[in-house]
Amino acid sequence: CCMKDEQYNITSAIPETCQELKECIIKRMPRKLHQQKNHPINLIKERIVSYFYKKFVGRTGNPVFSVYDNLDPIVTTHQNFDALLVPRNHVSRQKSDSYYLNSKYMLRAHTTAHQSDLISSGLDNFLIIGDVYRRDTVDSTHYPIFHQCDAVRLQTQHELFPEEWDLKVFEKRPDKRTDDKQAEHTVDAVRILSYQLKTTLQDLAKTLFGPDVEYRWVEAYFPFTHPSWELEIKHKGEWLELLGCGIMEHAIVAKAGAGDRIGWAFGLGLERVAMRVYDIPDIRLFWSTDRAFLQQFAVDDPFTAVKYKPVSVYPICVNDISFWIPPHGDFSQNDFFDIVRTVGGDMIEEVSLVDQFVHPKKRLTSHCYRITYRHMERTLTKTEVNAVHNEIGRRATEVLGVSVRM
Ligand code: PHE
Repeated sequence: CCMKDEQYNITSAIPETCQELKECIIKRMPRKLHQQKNHPINLIKERIVSYFYKKFVGRTGNPVFSVYDNLDPIVTTHQNFDALLVPRNHVSRQKSDSYYLNSKYMLRAHTTAHQSDLISSGLDNFLIIGDVYRRDTVDSTHYPIFHQCDAVRLQTQHELFPEEWDLKVFEKRPDKRTDDKQAEHTVDAVRILSYQLKTTLQDLAKTLFGPDVEYRWVEAYFPFTHPSWELEIKHKGEWLELLGCGIMEHAIVAKAGAGDRIGWAFGLGLERVAMRVYDIPDIRLFWSTDRAFLQQFAVDDPFTAVKYKPVSVYPICVNDISFWIPPHGDFSQNDFFDIVRTVGGDMIEEVSLVDQFVHPKKRLTSHCYRITYRHMERTLTKTEVNAVHNEIGRRATEVLGVSVRM
């Protein structure tokens, strides 16, 4: 980790506002929750891997999928974006959304970043599991590090269609691209492949959430698949987006040297699944080293039913902060969220913008944020919360140039 610091010169490349946060993240990078035996993130990973190992077997009953769960989270912007055809001006490339180490390197924002390299290395069926990094709002379901599982399955003409069916995967000459398919692919190929993809993922949802889980398919857009869908499941009466997927863009597959194949891919967030499967109410709990938390997941079989029991619940403490944002600056809410998290650490449960107005004469904009303080492991004192709250104000003034209103 320290080696990486030097190699990629992290400190010089990080904006002032999130330097400490980034250091905190870098400290957590080696934890690799998905590799920690009996950690809930690892258990969900094991469930998914076991499903794929059983579902897709070769001639001799051996699994055809291979698993990559130890790839370096430091990737190039090329791997994270360009190789996946993410447009130059796509929102996800913004500095306020990802952690850039310098102009060339970043912390991967999705495990899809490794897709094209693994295809280039000759693989047709693989799972990628790893920690991913995104700048985001602060609340009980968002954390700047989380975990994803991606999958790719590529098939040839010969594997997809038996000789006697007389069906083709590719158009002889590229056809028109429509809402339903890419120019290179035939309607037949896309139809059979999307059927395979959807049934595979519906069964995965049943494997994770039980045979009675309610699900639905929603049209979606990703730069690296077409057509694309999202699978939603009903959880406690609400529709929840579980994963994104689609038919892989032929240009990506061809560039990676597998132009004779058609493939599907998907990506899913492990915390999302783990929170529903185990009833874990707060995403920060995954980083707990508390025995009382971890012991609940000490099971031999990853399919063992476990329901998380909160060890104890401590009271919240709510404090508002209002300030004028600098008139000519480029104030970004995420910079403020970073400061809150940096100063408050694990005392912060939630930050939200509760009021915003423009002063008619001064032409200044005021923001009011409500910060909810709560520690997962102890009761916070009023004095301790006030000290942190004041420090957040001081830091926002110094770094973001806001002026705090009393
Ligand atoms: N990478 C996408 C995300 O993070 C998920 C995805 C992966 C969608 C592969 C389609 C194919 O949301």
